[in-house]
Amino acid sequence: MGDSPARVAAAASSSPREEETSPPPPDPQPIEGGNVPRDDEDEEDDADSALGDDNASSTASLSASILEYRTLHGRTYHSLRGNAEYWGPNDDLAGESMDLTHHMLTILLGDKLFLAPIGDDPGKVLDIGCGTGVWAIDFADAFPSSEVIGTDISPAQPSWVPANLRFEMDDCTQSWTFARSSFDFVHVRYLFGSVVDWEALYAEAFRAVRPGGWVEAVEAATRVDSDDGSVVPGMALHDFGPLFHEAGRKTRRSTSVVEDGVVGRAFRAAGFVDVVERRFKVPLTPWPADERLRQVGLYARLATEQGFEGFVLYLFTTILGWSPQEVQVYVAKARRELRNRKIQPYFVVQVLYGRKPENAR
Ligand SMILES: C[S@@+](CC[C@H](N)C(=O)[O-])C[C@H]1O[C@@H](n2cnc3c(N)ncnc32)[C@H](O)[C@@H]1O
Repeated sequence: MGDSPARVAAAASSSPREEETSPPPPDPQPIEGGNVPRDDEDEEDDADSALGDDNASSTASLSASILEYRTLHGRTYHSLRGNAEYWGPNDDLAGESMDLTHHMLTILLGDKLFLAPIGDDPGKVLDIGCGTGVWAIDFADAFPSSEVIGTDISPAQPSWVPANLRFEMDDCTQSWTFARSSFDFVHVRYLFGSVVDWEALYAEAFRAVRPGGWVEAVEAATRVDSDDGSVVPGMALHDFGPLFHEAGRKTRRSTSVVEDGVVGRAFRAAGFVDVVERRFKVPLTPWPADERLRQVGLYARLATEQGFEGFVLYLFTTILGWSPQEVQVYVAKARRELRNRKIQPYFVVQVLYGRKPENAR
């Protein structure tokens, strides 16, 4: 993973965003992002795909059971452990898709790793469900004086990381083992489909962060839409949302947390104040005219092409009862749609952050 474009390009900013601090807003939020298509679509991929040589075997604190991966139709998944049930594979292909998504999100946020006004000296930072650790690595690099911990249920992180970062295997849907008020900033990204009780999750985050500290959550809607009517029922991209939602309902782990405003409610129930919620339109292909959004679309498409089989394989076969062959046909159809210049698909990413009150325990 050492030469990942994500690693190279992600630049953090901690500039305060006072103007955005406001009382909890009602759902849904206005969606940011342009929707002007570009005229001359160039189908050449100009994204660098030279990613990935993750070493998944070296997290020192692992118990042997964590490495007992399950295999499903050629992909590997986390070992069964506690309450954890994550829909995605934990292999290199899935990791490359996560790294591309990280790069896409960093561009989307204006070359920032977070939006919360945490200042220049963030202190102790926790990244929950860190995946390949790409966000935690970039954060630790950007703030060498910080102390960063990334947790996950799969040891899919590299061993060569900044000295101020360490990874721990931990199921975030159990009671957290970290001491009360022991972090200055808690970051949670893309846990949709992994969590039964979101209020319990953010109650744990509230407990773990210090009074005055910030928690930031980034989640993606799984519904794919278009403003020009080019995404319609029957298309693989359109049907992804309803199918993923159905699977999430069956596993009791919602995959429509953005669509349903779940995280905002969980933040407010936990007691966070100065909650800010922003929603961004993410082009799924490079159709926008705006150059930054075109880049977002390029990386979103690359991440989706790389990841799509992994997004659906477990949920569609084991939970929805599809055959592996049906999944492959569906994945191929989605790939064709992602390359179709006439389609202007987008989905919504939500960034939400809030502060633990100074007088809270
Ligand atoms: C879609 S990936 C996102 C990874 C990372 N947050 C990012 O944005 O690059 C979701 C991650 O959450 C992890 N995960 C799922 N359920 C979890 C749980 N119960 N506890 C900790 N991590 C979990 C998965 O193993 C996976 O690495």
